[in-house]
Amino acid sequence: MNILGIETSCDETAAAVVADGRRVRSNVIASQIELHRAHGGVVPELAARGHVTAILPVIERALDDAGASEKDVEVIAVTAGPGLAGALLVGMNVAKALAYAWGKPLVPVNHLEAHVYANWLTFPDDQAVLPPPELPAVCLLVSGGHTELILVEDHGRYRHLGRTLDDAAGEAFDKGARLLGLGYPGGPAIQEAARDGDPRRHDLPRAWLGESDDFSFSGLKTALLRLVDPYRLPAPDPRRSPSTPFAEHRPPSFRDDLPRVDLAAAFQEAVVEVLAVKTAGAVRREGARSVLLAGGVAANRALRERVMREVECVAPEVPVRVPRLELCTDNAAMIAGAAYYALRRGEQAGWEADIAPRLPLVSTS
Ligand code: KG4
Ligand code: ZN
Repeated sequence: MNILGIETSCDETAAAVVADGRRVRSNVIASQIELHRAHGGVVPELAARGHVTAILPVIERALDDAGASEKDVEVIAVTAGPGLAGALLVGMNVAKALAYAWGKPLVPVNHLEAHVYANWLTFPDDQAVLPPPELPAVCLLVSGGHTELILVEDHGRYRHLGRTLDDAAGEAFDKGARLLGLGYPGGPAIQEAARDGDPRRHDLPRAWLGESDDFSFSGLKTALLRLVDPYRLPAPDPRRSPSTPFAEHRPPSFRDDLPRVDLAAAFQEAVVEVLAVKTAGAVRREGARSVLLAGGVAANRALRERVMREVECVAPEVPVRVPRLELCTDNAAMIAGAAYYALRRGEQAGWEADIAPRLPLVSTS
């Protein structure tokens, strides 16, 4: 069964064709990073407008790449939430229009669930096609908006083990990068800077929060701010440089001796260590049969390696699955993949389908 997936929840306009919930036939992603870079973060209205102009060419390209036409597509799947309301509306309305015009079923998809299902996807050029992950699985879902440790008991059945009490892991990377005067988005910028850094030169705190599986990153951010502050140069008088409309997004200037790469390495290690150790602890406690990483932060190399190391220590027989890089950050293949399993549970929408910007990950079976 070929499903056309559409994703517009944040700053990527994406469409993909996936067969039987697993085989990616095309995966097209138009990133809006350049649109938002000048503002240091995603501007919701710009995101929605960007989706309006990009969505139809992106869908056309996804069909072309898959060698598919209207008659090959059996289902239209679209992200219903969580995400930015204006951005989600663009995808939902396009999906409804296509489903109506082509006479196909419409399946609304939970974006968080879709990140989990990125671990089911395979590509034609994969060296080996892995079997689907074994359940129950512990999934660490880490993105710009979410940090959740989840037990995937079965398809559509989730138990929350822990979540962030303040910033999401990706948000922590983004804010940390901003404090260090690194680029946007912050995760890749910190990863790159950290490559040449020594994580042991600076001591940053870890919020273990006792035995709980919850996370907290706000203390870490404050500690980084304290370390960076002495190196900050006074901000120029805004009246003398009126060309930047968003004064608060002007990158800070630092003294040349700011130990940027060491701080980036220490910051990355502090985030990654807590995520990996808590994930491994949950795997052992819950008797999970696999470990899944998901979300934009799962693209982080240090996180991937550390989770593998920690799980190897406590449960060497449990495999760790990590999606390809382009399936960690937002994409539509994961939407089409998740829709296949949702459809098997009978989740299909009528024309009253609506977006749900604050949709949580809840069990549906
Ligand atoms: O899943 P995603 O694309 O969008 C959301 O649904 O939020 O995740 C985006 C987040 C951003 O915060 C970005 O900084 C982070 O993922 N990210 C990374 C890396 N690549 C993207 N964080 C750490 N290391 C990376 N390599
Ligand atoms: Zn996402």
